[in-house]
Amino acid sequence: MLFQQPLTRAHSVTVRAPGKVNLQLSIGPLRDDGYHHLATVFQAVSLFDDLTVTRSDRLRVRTSGENAAEVPDGQDNLAGRAAALLAARIGVEPLVDISIRKRIPVGGGMAGGSADAAGALVACAALWQADLGDAELLALAARLGSDVSFSLLGGMAIGERRGEALTPLPVRSTQHWVFALADTLLSTPRVFAELDRMRDDTVPEPVRSEALLRALDGGDPVAIGRALTNEAQPAALALAPGMGATLAAGQTAGALGSIVSGTGATCAFLARDEAHARQLAAALEASGTCRAARHAYGPVPGPAVIAVE
Ligand code: C5P
Repeated sequence: MLFQQPLTRAHSVTVRAPGKVNLQLSIGPLRDDGYHHLATVFQAVSLFDDLTVTRSDRLRVRTSGENAAEVPDGQDNLAGRAAALLAARIGVEPLVDISIRKRIPVGGGMAGGSADAAGALVACAALWQADLGDAELLALAARLGSDVSFSLLGGMAIGERRGEALTPLPVRSTQHWVFALADTLLSTPRVFAELDRMRDDTVPEPVRSEALLRALDGGDPVAIGRALTNEAQPAALALAPGMGATLAAGQTAGALGSIVSGTGATCAFLARDEAHARQLAAALEASGTCRAARHAYGPVPGPAVIAVE
């Protein structure tokens, strides 16, 4: 089960929802509906947003933490839309205050908005004691955004079609990462549009990276580091060229793999182990090429209820 129902009628539910990194991001041609076919490997990582839903007289969303001012509130917020969609599905009014404490970088290519939407689905389902199965929650998630299904599932998975068609992958090892946070925020549609502009008309359909899947099966961080790929990277770098220096600094400091996370503007560096990740984070902060560097690990499970009152 993706969520657990509380035993009593709760007043508020708090959920912790992870961000993600794409270990492969292969992007096909622009489709008629404005989306792109993807072949991607998602991994949920230990940078979390905490989200509390509390019974209220109307739907409100408040966000705190770094760059919270950049996050839309009310019905424009993906978590608010998730609460409204679930409420409509089960026939209740979406009367909740949603309070989000952000640690997943905003505009950072780590699915922070999708994590909040997935977290809101799990929290509201628990609060309203919604009797929905995992398949139905995943279907609601897919309607909210391409990454929301994975944000709900957590762990590690191959994503195809828009990213919402998921094949869970077995977890054979833990990866340690450093995420270098940028001063710049990047919007996902802008990066996809820039990629379309940069590419010619002969874009092949995306294919799964067998090299990456083999490396993940073996669990060797050096092989995993070598197999990291991101086809959105040239477009993200064109829009936020400062990330070039960040990637170079991580490579110089000995990262096993250095990529833009999703559509950016966070850079992701793979480390050998936790101690190596802490060294890399210190070197990246000292390099002056990023706003901050955070250690995190993955895969971690999807949104989990951490408090019920
Ligand atoms: O699905 P979501 O609303 O999160 O997607 C945001 C934007 O990202 C889309 O409007 C589209 O521009 C781009 N996108 C895409 N192909 C995908 C996923 C997202 O072009 N597979």
